[in-house]
Amino acid sequence: MVPCKVRAVRRMTPRSVVVTLDPGPALPRFRHTPGQRVTFCLNVNNNSCFRSYNLVNPLGELPQVAVKQVAEGGGSQLFNECLQPGDVLQVAPPTGHFYDQSLDYKAHHLLLFAAGSGITPMFSVAQHALKARPDHRVTLIYANSTARSIMMQRELDRMADSKRFEVFHVLGDGATGEDLSTGRLNHAKLDQLLKQYRSSELPEVAFQSGPAGFMSLIQAAATQQSRPFNLKRYSFGEQPFVHPDEQHSDAADSELVVTVNGVTHTLPAVSRRLTLLDAADEAGIAMTANCKSGICHRCKAKLISGQTFQAPAHSMGRKPENGYILCCQQRPGSDKVEIEVG
Ligand code: FES
Repeated sequence: MVPCKVRAVRRMTPRSVVVTLDPGPALPRFRHTPGQRVTFCLNVNNNSCFRSYNLVNPLGELPQVAVKQVAEGGGSQLFNECLQPGDVLQVAPPTGHFYDQSLDYKAHHLLLFAAGSGITPMFSVAQHALKARPDHRVTLIYANSTARSIMMQRELDRMADSKRFEVFHVLGDGATGEDLSTGRLNHAKLDQLLKQYRSSELPEVAFQSGPAGFMSLIQAAATQQSRPFNLKRYSFGEQPFVHPDEQHSDAADSELVVTVNGVTHTLPAVSRRLTLLDAADEAGIAMTANCKSGICHRCKAKLISGQTFQAPAHSMGRKPENGYILCCQQRPGSDKVEIEVG
């Protein structure tokens, strides 16, 4: 953990702020790639808790996070209501892998889909892409409940000065008065938007981030298009990963057997690119986790059988004892993995 001084706290919406941090001489450790997060160790009601947030600063500048208040009494409330310039926070440097920088070898059209605070990794990708190449194009479809809840609006408006960036807002409360941008995003609207914004001039690449229902909607639209497109969903734990024994092939999915408090769940096909924690989350299995960064050990599980692997660069904390793994850090490394929690 690195002590970082709070340089500035700027209110973005009634329930979100942008916080600028100064890590002092440790600044080079906070260089990040689009979509990476930093983890804070916060003191909330005299208890330590870990919270991770996406970096939204331009690459190479002081680290900034955008935090939406999601619950009373938690870490996000501390950011929104208590934090002052001059405060010092303990912060672990950026981790995660989201944006494949080989995309910048040639011009692309980046299609980004975000809902609510899911904007933060999408914003980071958009910001990077526009700078990385003069011929990348970026289209962002951004859903919010009201105009007042739009995060990063000032920055998005500024980016929209570029002819290479378009943003389409969808507002749940009907404030725009136009059918397409009013109310909940659904299949029909999404279909119309994709007709409007997709083109075949550049190779496309699509990213999404938001609540599960939103991501399923976009995923379904992507596969049902007459010209389907690949969609990468934001997941903090995802890492590029090749099984050491299969360097030159795509390792097949694994079967994951998870026993939580005596109840066993079998997930027949888990991607080896997902952490065990994310795989369980996606399947709706409630597992305890806090920092998602290898620090708190709340996600510790007993490895009953099989192999798991960890990207060395991703580990930030101490190792658990022999026979145990941290589910937020490990991905399946054999055809079958069996773990027990609680
Ligand atoms: S959630 Fe904290 S170590 Fe895994």
